[in-house]
Amino acid sequence: MRPATTAAADPAAYPPLAGTDTGGTAARRYHARYGSVLPAIDLTASNTPPKHHPGARVVPLPFPPGSPAAPGNGSDPAALDSLGTLLALLCGVTRIDWTGAGVGGGRPVPSGGGAYPGEVYAATASGLCHYLPAAHALELLSPADLRADVVRALGRPPVRRPELVLLITTRQEANLARYGPFGHRLQALDTGVLTGEALTLLAAAGAEPTAHALFAEQALGGLLGLDPGAERVHAVVTADPVGPLAPTAELLNRRSARGGFEPAPVPLARLVELLDRATAPFPLDGPNAPDDPGCELYVVAGRVTGLAPGCHRRDPRTGELVAPTPGATPRDLFPPGGPGELAGFEAACALLVVGDYEQGYPEHGDRWYRMLNLRAGILGQRIGLAAARVGLGAGLRCDFVTTGTDRLLGPALATLPGRTTLLTVLIGPERGSGTPAHHLLATGGHR
Ligand SMILES: Cc1cc2nc3c(=O)[nH]c(=O)nc-3n(C[C@H](O)[C@H](O)[C@H](O)COP(=O)(O)O)c2cc1C
Repeated sequence: MRPATTAAADPAAYPPLAGTDTGGTAARRYHARYGSVLPAIDLTASNTPPKHHPGARVVPLPFPPGSPAAPGNGSDPAALDSLGTLLALLCGVTRIDWTGAGVGGGRPVPSGGGAYPGEVYAATASGLCHYLPAAHALELLSPADLRADVVRALGRPPVRRPELVLLITTRQEANLARYGPFGHRLQALDTGVLTGEALTLLAAAGAEPTAHALFAEQALGGLLGLDPGAERVHAVVTADPVGPLAPTAELLNRRSARGGFEPAPVPLARLVELLDRATAPFPLDGPNAPDDPGCELYVVAGRVTGLAPGCHRRDPRTGELVAPTPGATPRDLFPPGGPGELAGFEAACALLVVGDYEQGYPEHGDRWYRMLNLRAGILGQRIGLAAARVGLGAGLRCDFVTTGTDRLLGPALATLPGRTTLLTVLIGPERGSGTPAHHLLATGGHR
């Protein structure tokens, strides 16, 4: 078991103790030592099990969504079904995957190493509950309407009281046994992935959702009854009004291309469609304009018809791919001989989500570290959904070599002076018909 970095003895340990901040010192030090360095993964170590709240009343949700609710649980069946559909599509078990490692439940969102450190809590007019993905059930933590209390803790609260508030937490130890302190970075990206999925789903349900990263963390942790050493609130999503939601093929087809990629070219137009979909503005609570993701996208092309091999920056204003650093292909991002290089050799291109840590430390202190990775995770999830939409395989990866990858970003034209790669996504046609899987939810009849 590796040491966690939360030790109270070191005032600059990351993540900082709840309620403390070192103005970015702890985050900078963490990133240099752990966050940007590929860890030696301990494959014999297990991730920790998901959270549950002993003693809380468990309310089963209809599964698959749309089937009759279990009688006699005292809740409004339509409201339960609607919340259940949203939560299933957010992080429930929505398919069965058959892989070399055996049979297992598949989720709509990816997670670094399949650790799923995130937990989801929902505050509605009917109370506060915690979602149990494996059981597709709610744990009722309080029958009181706590939405006003949650909104009071937000740095930039919504104008109207939201119909629904989702609180996304992360279990601090969830993946540390396997990944060591690097696990904290994966947790921040995973929170972003969940937040990105929540924004997509709530927009599809006709709501105007906003993702919040600025809030009084201890106050929210207190409302949820969390031990801050074990679990912390990383993101809040507010939404209003929330209409009905139906599973679409795009939502259900998102998964990692575990069977690898056909080493076949992808037309540039298809890649551009994917990029345009993934980069549509998403509503955040800061630090700049509400729609500024704080991240840039680069494409490392290998087999893209109409795009020369090399690293190209996507101009966020025009969508054009500009300022190429010629020659590099996706395999060059990864350690030689490892699984990343092999996958990169087959992929048509790699998308790089790039951000600047120094941009946000002066205003937000250490919290900016997870705020930026949250943004990267949101974009990563949107890329995965956009790939499913245009019929391409995708795989998020953190096993790139940061220094070598950053060198490919090239000089000039970027708006972020301290650019570094936060996340990579390999893209290409998935091999054959992909890894066998069985969907547990039927689509609502539209893509
Ligand atoms: C932040 C993040 C980092 C990831 N890094 C890697 C990686 O380095 N290598 C890899 O093979 N998969 C990586 N994955 C993919 C996960 O292994 C995959 O999502 C998980 O096993 C669940 O499978 P699914 O995406 O097919 O649902 C990553 C996923 C996330 C969200």
